[in-house]
Amino acid sequence: MGKIIVGKKSDMPLGSMQKVEVDGRDILVTNIDGNYYACDDTCTHSGASLADGTLEGSTVTCSWHGAKFNCKSGKLEKFPAKISDLKSYQTVVESDSVFVQV
Ligand code: FES
Repeated sequence: MGKIIVGKKSDMPLGSMQKVEVDGRDILVTNIDGNYYACDDTCTHSGASLADGTLEGSTVTCSWHGAKFNCKSGKLEKFPAKISDLKSYQTVVESDSVFVQV
């Protein structure tokens, strides 16, 4: 599909996360230490939006049952049951615009 604009850097401050829809998928875009990362927004446990959770460092914690995922890689970091990792996506920044490669 290619490179899709998801927002402006100026609207995504350090430590922020936001849900965007790209090609029918809900994607979580985070600003961690000034770098932008993208992964699926839908928790692989029961489908909560991870944008409703909390971001600490590079870890997002799901607001429903506490699963922790690494926003940089999409990898599951902590949960009592085996659930899938999130799909992660490349991001590209051009001037003030943030793009996700899908
Ligand atoms: S829906 Fe995310 S931990 Fe259960």
